[in-house]
Amino acid sequence: MMDEQPCLIVCAPIGRRALALLRQDWEVVELPADPQALASCPPELARRARVIICTITLRVDAAVLAMFPGLSAISNVAVGYDNIDLAAAARAGVAVCHTPGVLDQSVADLAFGLVLCLARGIVRHDRFVRSGQWLRQAAPLMTELAGKTLGIIGMGRIGIQVARRAATFGMDVLYADAREMPAEAGAIAARVDMDTLLQQADFLSIHVPLTPQTKMMIGPRELRRMKPGAYLINTSRGEVIDEPALIAALSEGRLAGAGLDVAWQEPLPPDHALLALDNVVVQPHVGSATRESRHAMIAMAVENARLAMAGRPPLAMVPAQAVSQQ
Ligand code: GLV
Repeated sequence: MMDEQPCLIVCAPIGRRALALLRQDWEVVELPADPQALASCPPELARRARVIICTITLRVDAAVLAMFPGLSAISNVAVGYDNIDLAAAARAGVAVCHTPGVLDQSVADLAFGLVLCLARGIVRHDRFVRSGQWLRQAAPLMTELAGKTLGIIGMGRIGIQVARRAATFGMDVLYADAREMPAEAGAIAARVDMDTLLQQADFLSIHVPLTPQTKMMIGPRELRRMKPGAYLINTSRGEVIDEPALIAALSEGRLAGAGLDVAWQEPLPPDHALLALDNVVVQPHVGSATRESRHAMIAMAVENARLAMAGRPPLAMVPAQAVSQQ
């Protein structure tokens, strides 16, 4: 097996330049970036694959890993890695690489953009004008951000950037996070427990990875604890929220609105219950979808792959403790 020509599999839209760079040193095989691409990879190719570059839409579980006996690394073009079974990868000796740090500003822009959009009804008012309602009535009054409280769940790299933006708008910022925090977090936001955060936040923004601990962390109980009339913003993963419970809270008016870049089902079908709600602003999972972030993510994922192909330590490997947390 090891005498066969090794190859690198790319199931992600990384662009012609990145492909050309990889092809200077390695045989590169492109597969479609669809969820079944790895499971239906021809065995001859799977045997020769040493590194796979992929996105979070591809599930890499124990069965998929078993098809790739010579694999040394998976390079996710994403900061998240919940699409990969980390324990199975560790057992198979496959390093899991990701792209932390290069998308924080873009995701924070979108999260805070959703805060601003909900507070001032920017999307709602656009619909108001386009539908001709402005000809008949005045637009509803909305909410000023200064003096309101933003609650952040997960004060990591992205949470800190969101806190910075909120502070600039005169908001009070609170956060809850079980981890040790850098001094920087304390300088812009006050740490509270989760219950206090839920009860005091006018806007609550979620910035945690999806793990068994964070899955459904915002359920019916948490939604009931939230301040009546508060707004919920989620740019992390859909599964951290109990979506039917959120839809109920929004329909009953217990929450004033939600800004969601992520959902249980992606892409969200146009007849989804969330889309029937006027107080929800949705985005097509585009937190990192800026030219700046995507170019940097691709560059980092490609470098991770090149280093792994050369048998050297990649730039960013998923930390060892993440295996036990998944
Ligand atoms: C996007 O969702 C990412 O994890 O990078």
